[in-house]
Amino acid sequence: MTWSPQQYQRFSSERRQPFDDLLSLLDPASSPRVVDLGCGTGELTAELHRHTGARETLGVDASPEMLREAARQDVHGLRFEQGDIGRFTPPEPFDIVFSNAALQWVPDPVRTMARVLASVAPGGQVAIQVPSNQDSVSHRVAREVSTGFAPQPALVPDVLPPELYAELLARAGFQGVHVQQQVYIHWLDGPEAVVEWVKGTLLTAWQRALSPVDFEVFLRVYRTRLLQTLPNERPFFFPFKRTLMWARKPA
Ligand SMILES: C[S@@+](CC[C@H](N)C(=O)[O-])C[C@H]1O[C@@H](n2cnc3c(N)ncnc32)[C@H](O)[C@@H]1O
Repeated sequence: MTWSPQQYQRFSSERRQPFDDLLSLLDPASSPRVVDLGCGTGELTAELHRHTGARETLGVDASPEMLREAARQDVHGLRFEQGDIGRFTPPEPFDIVFSNAALQWVPDPVRTMARVLASVAPGGQVAIQVPSNQDSVSHRVAREVSTGFAPQPALVPDVLPPELYAELLARAGFQGVHVQQQVYIHWLDGPEAVVEWVKGTLLTAWQRALSPVDFEVFLRVYRTRLLQTLPNERPFFFPFKRTLMWARKPA
């Protein structure tokens, strides 16, 4: 894995709002057992733990680098485990299954949703946020530049349209299904900040696939092409679409 806590956290304040919005979708629960799938550096998992009054919260992430950072959270009832969301089969289901900005990295979104929903206890809640900006310039340019490089990443962020998430939740028998698409507005210092943003997320797919030397070249071509495409405005208007969903499993 090539997740860098330092690179990811460069935009932590901008990434915070969707987490808060997702948290606000949760109904109060009495000392729930909570899981945060793709917990990253763990600060937000600790917030989730406090906000829900959980008796136990488990943060799951595949990246040792992110988990090393998460281990610094010393909060009673909060623990972290290395694991792949794509294979997540807990021995006991959770009262709240939460995932912020992670499921897009797991192959086969339909199967992943089925797995995630199976880990919700009867009467429990699921709350998920995924980015839905595959049509943005930053993603389009990455795909275009990518054609000149081999091997291609095994996995790039993959999400479904909001109505399909609603359908999956409803067909799985969940109640009160709420799915919304939200545009988050960020004002960055300039267009070059977009490169720094995607280096912490989207471009990790190419960083994993390519040799360090090839990735440096990829990054240089990407930066040049993107900066030719984006307007040279300061501050830079950077809209970011995200899908947020919540539902409850019947008791
Ligand atoms: C964009 S970060 C989000 C982190 C955190 N949820 C937050 O909101 O700050 C995505 C996280 O998902 C993790 N991840 C990606 N694929 C995964 C998988 N298959 N299983 C578990 N974690 C995964 C990455 O290691 C990374 O920490």
